[in-house]
Amino acid sequence: MSHRNNLASSVRIVPTGAALAADVEGVDLSRPLDAGVISVLRRAWLDHLVLRFRRQQLSDRQLADFSAGFGELDRAPVDVQEPDDVRSFISVISNVIEDGKPIGGLGDGESKWHTDMSYNELPPTASLLYALEVPSSGGDTGFCNMYLAYETLPADLKRRIDGLSCKHDAAHNSVGGLRYGFESITDPRETPGAVHPLVRVHPETGRKALFLGRRLFAYVPGLSLADSDDLLDALWSHATQEHLDWYQQWRVGDLLMWDNRCVMHRRDGFDPAARRVMHRTQLLGDRPH
Ligand code: OGA
Ligand code: MN
Repeated sequence: MSHRNNLASSVRIVPTGAALAADVEGVDLSRPLDAGVISVLRRAWLDHLVLRFRRQQLSDRQLADFSAGFGELDRAPVDVQEPDDVRSFISVISNVIEDGKPIGGLGDGESKWHTDMSYNELPPTASLLYALEVPSSGGDTGFCNMYLAYETLPADLKRRIDGLSCKHDAAHNSVGGLRYGFESITDPRETPGAVHPLVRVHPETGRKALFLGRRLFAYVPGLSLADSDDLLDALWSHATQEHLDWYQQWRVGDLLMWDNRCVMHRRDGFDPAARRVMHRTQLLGDRPH
């Protein structure tokens, strides 16, 4: 990949033309990047919300090192590993089963619109997802622009959510499964999870974004369950309109980096007989306000 010399002046940012996302050309992420390149990429990331780097070839170490250029690496939500092992920062997202055990999370089903780990008090700032093996079709990942979702809200809805918060269910994952150690609940008011404002101000851009996290078992404290459901349904149907989204069709070697503070994402299901193997890192976040 010698044509990629990693000079800030050779980096090209090519917007997709959709509501968000841009391709980045002219960088080889397996090599160290200087501060000039990192700052060009950071600017582009803040402007476009999702960056895609194609034709990369990265070890876990290189993926972790690149990720760490944009913030502090978060530990993968997994059990026992050597604390300084690079794998403790890598989440495997895969449907592959080896020796009767899944090698990663999320399986082959549809993953509903969500923001990663929004049920935590400090949801991660960024997630980076790198494709090692992909099915020939299916498994596309969609992203939607939550700045635009907020800005284009009807005025009455905008006024109604001013000052309101939402509880983000921690018990279920984005494919609807119960997380390890949680009990099944049926009343969204009882669900465990962090409460965050429905509108958050992005700490770096200063722009307001709608912050919904996930629909399943979401609840707006202070409202009746019926009013909460009505309000959330209205916000969700607005935020998930097609003109606010962009879809990634994966190729091996693609790395996507998205800003959890102002996008949601979802994933199409795919053929269970196909293999899909992705490695993910994430960066520690701060409290939404
Ligand atoms: C994730 C996620 C979607 C995908 O890793 O957080 O939602 O396309 N992945 O695998
Ligand atoms: Mn996710």
